[in-house]
Amino acid sequence: MSRIPRDRSFDSTLALLLDPYGFISKRCRRYGADLFQTRLLLRPTICMTGPEAAELFYRQDLFARSGAAPGRVQKTLFGQGGVQGLDGEAHRHRKQMFMSLMTPERIEALKELTAEWWRTYAQKWTTMDRVILYDEVQELLTRAVCAWVGVPLPEAEAGRRAAELTALFDYAGSVGPKHWWSRLSRRRCESWIEGIVEQIRAGDLSPPEGSAARVIATWRDQDGALLSPRIAAVELLNILRPTVAVAVFIVFAAHALHGFPACRPKLQTGDEYPELFVQEIRRLYPFFPAVMARTRHNFEWNGYRFPRGRRVMLDLYGTNRDARAWDAPEEFRPDRFRSWDGSPFNFIPQGGGDHHMNHRCPGEWMTIELMKLSCRFLAASIEYDLPDQDLRIDITRLPAIPKSRFVMSNLRYAI
Ligand code: HEM
Repeated sequence: MSRIPRDRSFDSTLALLLDPYGFISKRCRRYGADLFQTRLLLRPTICMTGPEAAELFYRQDLFARSGAAPGRVQKTLFGQGGVQGLDGEAHRHRKQMFMSLMTPERIEALKELTAEWWRTYAQKWTTMDRVILYDEVQELLTRAVCAWVGVPLPEAEAGRRAAELTALFDYAGSVGPKHWWSRLSRRRCESWIEGIVEQIRAGDLSPPEGSAARVIATWRDQDGALLSPRIAAVELLNILRPTVAVAVFIVFAAHALHGFPACRPKLQTGDEYPELFVQEIRRLYPFFPAVMARTRHNFEWNGYRFPRGRRVMLDLYGTNRDARAWDAPEEFRPDRFRSWDGSPFNFIPQGGGDHHMNHRCPGEWMTIELMKLSCRFLAASIEYDLPDQDLRIDITRLPAIPKSRFVMSNLRYAI
């Protein structure tokens, strides 16, 4: 049996914060292995990369999620008591609630709402000197997704709610004041949505049949009981927050359109190229660096011993760029997806395995469709200039975004 390589430093939390995307794969290369062991926030943690490690990580007989995510992530990004921390039957049952919302018809409805808001915002942008795309798209998506899930959003509140939903993901990886702003935003968002759930249950608010607000407010857990208003709020926020976070990928799409202008005309017609383009953005651009679980019991894998109760972190970013699965992995080549094998373990920007059974993101199709729609709009419906700005992607921040947040000027839009 081989010993899992051990990182040299006593605790690697700082190294992870300084290089959240490269942390695992660089060390794996250094140790010549797909895994190594270290301490994160003083807790022993095995870090793994690559498709084979991903296949292992999604085995539910070996790994559990409850108790795996650090408290600071739960108090900002996820919330407490949501689907991310459930295991086994409880997870599958709750996951069904999310999956039931992802029908083609429901996704089409979200696309229509979002397209409408793109048009409205584009008109507004023609009157502005400078448009900061990242900020604008957060607000645009907040409006679209609130309408889609059936949560009323009074005009006077739209900016504030967009900022609060954004703080849940945009500052979740920060330390200091931004982290505390993220925690405060979580409390505000949960109170807001808890109030909505209570109004629905009292019959004072009646979101459409099939909308997420109605489905979640009336969902019964395995024991037949309604979710507590707080947990229902956490789950509804599990739809609102990440949909607003698609703004990160949309900014990356704008970044790629600028960096690879030959893609622009190909995005203007048909459905095939936008899909390839969007997949390559999800593969190559940095978003969610890793996911965490803990081992259920002692076991062996490839000659390595995994002890029971050990925290394990799977490298999503590095796995998407693993040279064993991808030719020239660092290059932006949308056409590579014409011959992708469809493996659930080598392309995992939103998690791997099975959507129903594993923790893989239920919003993956929504994300792809929103990105396709937005890429087309950016490529075909508007024209703009890029003033001087720093477009380098800040990969020390979570999520990484271009330093300038993507500024556009002199925007032209013909209705
Ligand atoms: C889970 C990424 C968009 C809802 C996840 C996971 C990742 C992820 C990495 C964890 C996978 C795992 O633990 O194995 C992303 C990214 C998105 C995105 C990068 C782009 C913005 C969405 C959208 C929704 C959504 C639009 C709306 C429905 C969820 C939920 C889970 C999840 C509810 C937890 C699933 C579970 O624990 O079973 N996502 N996601 N995500 N995502 Fe997304």
